[in-house]
Amino acid sequence: MTYTNCWLTYPLLVDETGKTIAVSSEFTGPVADSALEELKAGFGGMYRRSVASVAGEADIALKKNEKIHPEGYRVTAGNGKVVLESGGERGMLYGVFSLLRQLQLSGGSFNDFSWQQDTAPANPLRMLNHWDNMDGSIERGYSGSSFFFENEEVVVNQRTKDYARLTSSVGINAVVINNVNVVKAASWLISDRYYGKLRQMQEIFAAYGIDLYLSINFAAPMELGGLTLSDPCDPGVQQWWKEKAKEIWQKLPGFGGFLVKADSEGRPGPFTYGRTHADGANMLADAVAPFGGKIIWRCFVYNCRQDWRDAKIDRPKAAYDNFMPLDGQFRDNVILQIKNGPMDFQVREPVAPLFGGLKHTNMMIEFQIAQEYTGQQRHVCYLMPWFRQVLEQDMCVPGVPSRVADLVSGRSYGNQNCGMAAVANTGNDLNWTGHDLAAANWYGFGRLAYDMTADPLDIAREWVQLTFGSNAQVVDTLTAILMDSWPAYEKYTSPLGIGWMVSPNNHYGPSVDGYEYDRWGTYHRASHRGLGVERGRTGTDYCRQYNEPLCSLYENVDTCPDELVLFFHRLPYTHRLKSGKTVIQHIYDTHFEGAEMAEGFLSKLEAIKNLLPEDAYDRMHQRLQHQMEHSKDWRDIINTYFHRISDIDDEQGRKIYD
Ligand code: GCU
Repeated sequence: MTYTNCWLTYPLLVDETGKTIAVSSEFTGPVADSALEELKAGFGGMYRRSVASVAGEADIALKKNEKIHPEGYRVTAGNGKVVLESGGERGMLYGVFSLLRQLQLSGGSFNDFSWQQDTAPANPLRMLNHWDNMDGSIERGYSGSSFFFENEEVVVNQRTKDYARLTSSVGINAVVINNVNVVKAASWLISDRYYGKLRQMQEIFAAYGIDLYLSINFAAPMELGGLTLSDPCDPGVQQWWKEKAKEIWQKLPGFGGFLVKADSEGRPGPFTYGRTHADGANMLADAVAPFGGKIIWRCFVYNCRQDWRDAKIDRPKAAYDNFMPLDGQFRDNVILQIKNGPMDFQVREPVAPLFGGLKHTNMMIEFQIAQEYTGQQRHVCYLMPWFRQVLEQDMCVPGVPSRVADLVSGRSYGNQNCGMAAVANTGNDLNWTGHDLAAANWYGFGRLAYDMTADPLDIAREWVQLTFGSNAQVVDTLTAILMDSWPAYEKYTSPLGIGWMVSPNNHYGPSVDGYEYDRWGTYHRASHRGLGVERGRTGTDYCRQYNEPLCSLYENVDTCPDELVLFFHRLPYTHRLKSGKTVIQHIYDTHFEGAEMAEGFLSKLEAIKNLLPEDAYDRMHQRLQHQMEHSKDWRDIINTYFHRISDIDDEQGRKIYD
């Protein structure tokens, strides 16, 4: 059985066999070839029409227009004619994918189709970070094993191309194929042993407008080069990286650059030598600059060996504390990649304050569509409504537009080295993402990174229609499940922004005290008196990393939004939220509601059984069944824990265990 095409399905709409589509193009080269191939696939599938390249009069004219952004496009379609203009081949290819998407969504004939669009990407970099290991495993991977690596080898096959098509079709223009936690085998990726295969992969990616990036080990000069140190200020180390960069770009022309996890969770980095992150990043930046390379340096740096007894050490403060003092010290081709929140991809977190702090440093946001803490692609959890909220958050920087969307897209300070990245959720499962509905996050992330004003509901609806067809009942049902999925997950897991409460290590399933008394340093500190962490002046003083008036808004319990209130405050169970409910009643109510919603997903799916392909239905059914049961575990464990500890009964007298 072959794997699915996800949303690139191109089902038959109208049989127009015999009529050829004439395409003229002012673009040449591999991307232009891909565009033509896509038109063939799309028109062949949807209309049974063949596609021919012509020099003159055409049905579809692909034109160069320098006035349009090289990754943007302008399309006018009507009466069986399309004119598609772009300033570059990538924009042209994105225009072609959009045209095919719009045709499919229209459901009708090509002649009756009319559409206009003039658009450019919001973010310069729109990136996927794969955490694939050379042995074929994937860190936090929930969709089978890697299709990039197997048995310490790089894999290039039909799936490489199909991945590139899917990824490019939603506007993603850069991909890191290997895990940020680079271990020995992957260090060797930047050596003769692998360049050949990487080159093949890169060519496939390039034909779809995707730049190849690699995660590197900061200690590579020692591991690969036999040097005795990897001190960024050591001339020998600097020289090693310069030569390495030259070699890489010779072997892989057009290579994008490096993603680096340094001094984080045990990874090597500049701290070993008493150097700063700026020293480390700039040394690499200087090595890759002659080739136009970029260094993406992650800010996920914190003390993961802390003493839980010390309530002053507060993990969320770490990124800001580490990187703010370095603002302005990084080279132009360095981009700091900052996780969306200060913790670690929880179902709800405030926005990382570093976004509102850095003013003279390139930055991009790191989301995670691999659902590490949001159900691991066994639970449905469509994340675009959450990401959109994050992007809309105003960080209140005086004098500049400062929603997260402005800051990461370069709008605030007029920079170009910035954008959005997501830890990817794909693997070699038949449906690519384990849960069929999880592909909506891959699709949605690309669409949102390209257009940050896109409505998550529209994206969901569009994805359902492209993937499962346009039957209204199917579209309405699956869209509703997707849209309710993140709220449901939040309700039946950890309450009011506090996060965690998951099993340690695998991060799956309820374990209220899983991360209490722990060196990784994340606590709810629940007692019979209350729970939460005080992060204002009387506590860890984290709030002060935010600009005013955000700092005061969070610090004052009366203005702090309910959904984050236990992240910012330690409160008694009887504290009344703005919703009018007490904290404890909120916990009970949301947990009953969330589990009920999960049960509803299953019955909604069952009602459209006959309208779905059997295999996809079976896969989804199995997962939703598990989600329903697992959400009850979550509900009962959380409710029981807080019932025992607070000794306060549910006002509605529902079943809570003792
Ligand atoms: C989390 C995750 C790790 C990962 C890390 C990172 O801590 O659990 O698997 O390595 O994030 O983002 O680097």
